Amino acid sequence: MGLLSLPIILSAVLAAAVEPPKGHPWLAPGPNDYRGPCPMLNTLSNHNFLPHDGRNITKNKVVSAMSSALNFNESLAALMFEMAIVANPEPNATFFTLDQLNVHNVLEHDGSLSRTDAFFGSNHIFNETIFNETKVYWTGEILDANMLANSKIARQLNSKAFNPTYRFTSSVESFSLGEVSAPIVAFGDLQAVTVNRTLVEYFFENERFPTELGWSTRKEVVNIEDILRLSQAISDASNLITTDKEVVSTQRRDLHGGLY
Ligand code: HEM
Ligand SMILES: *[C@@H]1O[C@H](CO)[C@@H](O)[C@H](O)[C@H]1NC(C)=O
Ligand SMILES: *[C@@H]1O[C@H](CO)[C@@H](O)[C@H](O)[C@H]1NC(C)=O
Ligand SMILES: *[C@@H]1O[C@H](CO)[C@@H](O)[C@H](O)[C@H]1NC(C)=O
Ligand SMILES: *[C@@H]1O[C@H](CO)[C@@H](O)[C@H](O)[C@H]1NC(C)=O
Ligand SMILES: *[C@@H]1O[C@H](CO)[C@@H](O)[C@H](O)[C@H]1NC(C)=O
Ligand SMILES: *[C@@H]1O[C@H](CO)[C@@H](O)[C@H](O)[C@H]1NC(C)=O
Repeated sequence: MGLLSLPIILSAVLAAAVEPPKGHPWLAPGPNDYRGPCPMLNTLSNHNFLPHDGRNITKNKVVSAMSSALNFNESLAALMFEMAIVANPEPNATFFTLDQLNVHNVLEHDGSLSRTDAFFGSNHIFNETIFNETKVYWTGEILDANMLANSKIARQLNSKAFNPTYRFTSSVESFSLGEVSAPIVAFGDLQAVTVNRTLVEYFFENERFPTELGWSTRKEVVNIEDILRLSQAISDASNLITTDKEVVSTQRRDLHGGLY
């Protein structure tokens, strides 16, 4: 290698380092690309961690995407794939496509944080009206289990009150608790059970990793125990009963405080 090539290599390394995330720039989905109701799988496809066309999502691809983008334990990612493969109606399917996740009441369910119920419109496209409703309950700069739980309950109550086809089984509840805690898993503090609201809103609204806001893949591996513990924290925070001593404090939101 000649000395002259050194600056070229160095600048290539620096350019790669600022690409968000490294080697995986974001590219908006095109008209023929499939996307689904999961903001994270959509994000992984937008960054080419999963196929950009949203098709042929195999176990190996899920394991490698979730491991490299989110530092998920490979056995956790494999388990998630096993739970998702019912989405493909073919017997013994080895892959699913993002649009197969859109089928109502298979994995997709009512009361989502950022999508409307199938009864009212598209159950899989990001819906600003619905996400606005969710954000009412995100009353601090740092989201905690109470705020996330409150938004979950509010969405369910709205659906139960106004959607005559509202359905939310106990199996949906398990999935939903995982989904509602997922922003902490991806972008937050697993021990404190908190996450920066700005990062979460950016992620939902853009289906893009919030790299430009300073986020990067966590250093610790995410294990099944973490997922179960965080889901339990959301479940506990969903209780509307307090003891006579307990005070559930929620930070007042300063930016959109006009809602109150
Ligand atoms: C094989 C892996 C996965 C599959 C098949 C999957 C599938 C789904 C599906 C079908 C939904 C829609 C549920 C609904 O109707 O609201 C959903 C929602 C969601 N998923 Fe995933 N998901 C996967 C992994 C992940 C991961 C790793 C994360 C982040 C750490 C994540 C974050 C979310 C969030 C935040 C929602 C809730 C969206 C909302 O309520 O509007 N998912 N996922
Ligand atoms: C799906 O992906 C696998 C693994 O990369 C590949 O072997 C297979 O040919 C692909 N199938 C289609 C239909 O693209
Ligand atoms: C990944 O998960 C498996 C099964 O739960 C566990 O045995 C292993 O120690 C985990 N690996 C890491 C790095 O946490
Ligand atoms: C699916 O797998 C099962 C068990 O391995 C096998 O008995 C069955 O024939 C397979 N079905 C198809 C359609 O390949
Ligand atoms: C967004 O949700 C609202 C409220 O349910 C609904 O009226 C509207 O049609 C939805 N938009 C789409 C594109 O589905
Ligand atoms: C969502 O809330 C923002 C901020 O309050 C507002 O500008 C926007 O019009 C709302 N969108 C919908 C669809 O209600
Ligand atoms: C949340 O993240 C944003 C974007 O990186 C940052 O500007 C803000 O200071 C963070 N908020 C808190 C409370 O740490």
